[in-house]
Amino acid sequence: MTHPTTDKITVPILMARKTVGPRIVCLTAYDFPTAKILDEAGVDLILVGDSLGMVVLGYETTVPVTMDEMIHHTKAVARAVRRALVVGDMPYFSFHLGLDETVRNASRFLKEAGAAAVKIEGATKKRLKLVEALVEAEIPVMGHVGLTPQSIHSLGRFRVRGVAAGEARGILEGARALENAGAFAVVLESVPMELAKKVTESVGIPTIGIGAGPACDGQVLVFHDLLGCSTGYLPKFVRKYADLHGTISRAVNEYAADVRAGRFPDDRTSYHLKPPSGKPGPDVRGPDPGAKPKKGTAA
Ligand code: KIV
Repeated sequence: MTHPTTDKITVPILMARKTVGPRIVCLTAYDFPTAKILDEAGVDLILVGDSLGMVVLGYETTVPVTMDEMIHHTKAVARAVRRALVVGDMPYFSFHLGLDETVRNASRFLKEAGAAAVKIEGATKKRLKLVEALVEAEIPVMGHVGLTPQSIHSLGRFRVRGVAAGEARGILEGARALENAGAFAVVLESVPMELAKKVTESVGIPTIGIGAGPACDGQVLVFHDLLGCSTGYLPKFVRKYADLHGTISRAVNEYAADVRAGRFPDDRTSYHLKPPSGKPGPDVRGPDPGAKPKKGTAA
């Protein structure tokens, strides 16, 4: 529960980390209690990723995720966060219908949801124009190159990007162009570590890697992958720091067995008659004045 520093992380503070360090710690979150834990643990950047669709909403890809779903979850995250920079992910088709629509959608993350920035996938010429328009509207933008999961239907499958020389050049140029367009940071997803190092050394904005090796200025993982509570396959780049799937499953099985056997609830977890005279019932959380005294204690 200790903060490395209690200073609120702003976009300029995050950008300065490129030169002064330490490396940027980033995780995804989609709800209030998770965001509170991450913020209290000193995570610098909390991304409300559209991975939300696959991780908590049960979609097969991120493509169906809507603006309203993103806003709903970003609001919950922002309500919990005191220190970290909250970044909302622009979902598929929220930035495909022109500049005005893109700026309007992005502004919802700041005005309605309480985020401080947005993330947008891709670095095509049209996307770069969008980034410029967002920055012009005072909306800080984090870019995202390499594997862009919203491209799943044109890519055919989630694969490592930038292995072939031509694709690697495109990723490097994309990251540089995003910096020129005004992005404050760029996510590098599923690219060879050598390429991520080259990109990191070639741009003046922080690179945040996911499946991009150790040379990036920061790292991001999907929270549920880190904690071992994702369903389905895990990419090679994930390190599981816990087995929450196992922990939760054991707890639920134990609860079910207790309910079936009549062991839960018991005396300690039930209310009792006989409140002290003149008082209404006790607080639901507090000691129960009507409870039987434990052996060896005064009534
Ligand atoms: O949607 C997401 O969570 C992301 C990160 C994995 C970078 O884009």
